[in-house]
Amino acid sequence: MGDYKFIKDENVSGKTVLVRVDLNSNVEDGEIFEGARIEKHGQTLKALVEKGAKVVAIAHQGREGEEDFVSLKLHAEVLSEQLEKEVKLVAWDSDFVSEIAALPQGEIILMENVRFNEEENQSFSTEDASKIEWVSKIASSCQLFVQDTLSVCHRQQASVVGFSALLPSFVGPVLESELNALNHINSDEKPAVFVLGGAKIEDSVSLIQTLFEQNKADTICVGGLLGELFLKANGKVLGEKDNFFEEKELTILVGQASQLLSKYNEKIVLPLDVAIMDNDDEREEVLVEELPKDNMIYDIGLETVAEFKASFKKAKLIVMNGPMGVFEKMDFEIGTKKVLDAISKTRGFSLIGGGDTETALQQTDFSAEQFSHVSLAGKALLQYISGNELPGLVALQK
Ligand code: 3PG
Repeated sequence: MGDYKFIKDENVSGKTVLVRVDLNSNVEDGEIFEGARIEKHGQTLKALVEKGAKVVAIAHQGREGEEDFVSLKLHAEVLSEQLEKEVKLVAWDSDFVSEIAALPQGEIILMENVRFNEEENQSFSTEDASKIEWVSKIASSCQLFVQDTLSVCHRQQASVVGFSALLPSFVGPVLESELNALNHINSDEKPAVFVLGGAKIEDSVSLIQTLFEQNKADTICVGGLLGELFLKANGKVLGEKDNFFEEKELTILVGQASQLLSKYNEKIVLPLDVAIMDNDDEREEVLVEELPKDNMIYDIGLETVAEFKASFKKAKLIVMNGPMGVFEKMDFEIGTKKVLDAISKTRGFSLIGGGDTETALQQTDFSAEQFSHVSLAGKALLQYISGNELPGLVALQK
């Protein structure tokens, strides 16, 4: 492991500790799905207050413009319940410096969604980020910085890289366990099969390219929205789902995906069938040849599961990142569940990642023990495996 300092080795009693956690969760219609992220980071906060720290947690939810770009009010409520103590939500436009200064020992505040500071679309060096007003203000109120999550370390956002120039910086327990597990993977172990899905596909295409270029992946199975993107790149007209791609402005990715297909055709496994919601709101599996359909696609079909499974047989490393469909909808968790089941039975090192995958695991009744490691990180995990430097980790080593 790199040259890190760990918060577990530090005396935090009486100190104000700023902790970057990842509480990013599925939030829909004012409800939050309480996944493992909140639970694990909650344990970190609890451990710190039990050691006498004054804790200031900082986190994001969603991305600007998306429906889940909301306040952390629900997250604060869930944390308060989990920790059996009030976790007070503090707004960025309040006098948070005085609020932090008045924080008693053993208490926790959660700063409001850090992306309300418009940090999301900007990339900073550690030095530049440290000069941003809200970054320097909050750092001046705290004594130590803890990075507790791998899942944001691929971002050069101010809350990820900015505090390390201003405060002694440490690895928190969740990040520590991620780094320990990843240390045990030989990512050059072959054959290495990746199963990629999930809804956030913007970064996925370039990551696939890197995984092939760095010779980290032998086979990449694409499911979920990503699989549908590759079907489009292969010339398929999907039907109703094409409108979704238009609406979300994802069609710009089709060109990149088709370039990848022409270069790595043999190594990319595409869906053979998909599951649509039929006119009676039931799951119906249709072969890719039967597309387009006027119904939404919500999952991969069972022929696809069998095709993916065939590539797992000899794999020494299997990495799954992102679910295979909209698993939150009844009957459309089947693809994700069957793929997870197949991975849990393989002999190779099995690494499951992504915030959504973790939620899918819980919803489909799998336990983390059925896999070699379950990571809370998604794209950051893939970047790490690709061998790319993660700015958030680099900042911690300075
Ligand atoms: C994630 O869900 O992967 C992390 O919370 C990072 O979110 P982001 O991809 O919106 O930066």
